[in-house]
Amino acid sequence: MKKFIPLSKPSITCLEIEYVNQAMSSGWVSSLGSYINEFEASFAKYCGTKYALTTSSGTTAIHLALATYGITAGDEVIVPDLTFIATANAVAYTGAKVVTVDIKEDTLCIDTVKIEKAITPNTKAIIPVHLYGHPANTIEINRLAKKYNLLVLEDAAEAHGAEIERQKTGSLGDCGIFSFYGNKIITCGEGGMITTNDEAFYHRAKHLRDQAMSPLKRYWHNELGFNYRMTNLQAALGLAQLQRIDELIEDRIKIFELYRSYLADMPGIKLNFTADYARNVYWLVCFEVEGYTEAERNNLMKALELQGIETRPYFYPVSEMPMYQQNSIPTPVTHKVYQRGINLPSYFGLTFEEIEYICTCLRSQVNNGF
Ligand SMILES: Cc1ncc(COP(=O)(O)O)c(C=O)c1O
Repeated sequence: MKKFIPLSKPSITCLEIEYVNQAMSSGWVSSLGSYINEFEASFAKYCGTKYALTTSSGTTAIHLALATYGITAGDEVIVPDLTFIATANAVAYTGAKVVTVDIKEDTLCIDTVKIEKAITPNTKAIIPVHLYGHPANTIEINRLAKKYNLLVLEDAAEAHGAEIERQKTGSLGDCGIFSFYGNKIITCGEGGMITTNDEAFYHRAKHLRDQAMSPLKRYWHNELGFNYRMTNLQAALGLAQLQRIDELIEDRIKIFELYRSYLADMPGIKLNFTADYARNVYWLVCFEVEGYTEAERNNLMKALELQGIETRPYFYPVSEMPMYQQNSIPTPVTHKVYQRGINLPSYFGLTFEEIEYICTCLRSQVNNGF
């Protein structure tokens, strides 16, 4: 049988199966149930925040957080140009303008110096994205936010457990948001979370998440709310994953180190970079070939696919999408980097031999040139 190495796959053990079975047998299959409460409490504790609120996805978590802060039409929100589209879309749902800012070439995270140039009197918030497991420089971003009185919403969808100065993502800004999609560091199948230390924000977000129903009068709603809830079944899966998060992250770090040991001496390539302020959790392994065009990058991916290796390209710049092309600020680094980058397989259980095989194929394809 032909070898096939996927880009990612979840690690499901007896613990996940046991918790989901318990949730099923309890009858609490919707959004009430003990797993929801336990998952939220444990996640808040893990991140070092006072509160955590489950949501139906990472996208709805970002939208809910923005709506809770009252971000609306006429406001501007700064996002990095290199991110998954959900970061920008959640801003657009509120009616606010998406302002895309360039990234730093080394960390692939938003460039703080360029953020300052993009701030206008209408700017209300910055959403730094901790891309591919590396935390954006939230220390500098918080400093800027303080200077201009802006909110900081961390998009930590890809960086559960990453840290700056021993503080976990999700606890670094005014609030953090996470995704638990199937390819993330921990998964619920689909799901999200908002973390915060702000009690009033937490209660208001919960109210809006639950259709903004009056706590005093059932089925009375005096404003527009959402159903952005997670189910108890998803939370059961999430809790089991959270209890295994240390081993899941350690495995990703080990996988990255193996890739590095095989590839670091290749001329003209770049792997994930870790800034000295950061703990990187290497959600995805990044591989860039200097000078590659998009077509060359795509050829490399095709060649690897023929050898049974699934990869994926870096995100396209948000500012290239038809919805976000208007008034965009130039982002030369994003435009250079996105073309030359791919993500390599990385998941719990990927073997030493498989990594060696991937690296051998990569070397020969890149050395043959396209
Ligand atoms: C950076 C980033 N933000 C937001 C999201 C949205 O999360 P979800 O897919 O759970 O809606 C993702 C998910 O893939 C992401 O990678």
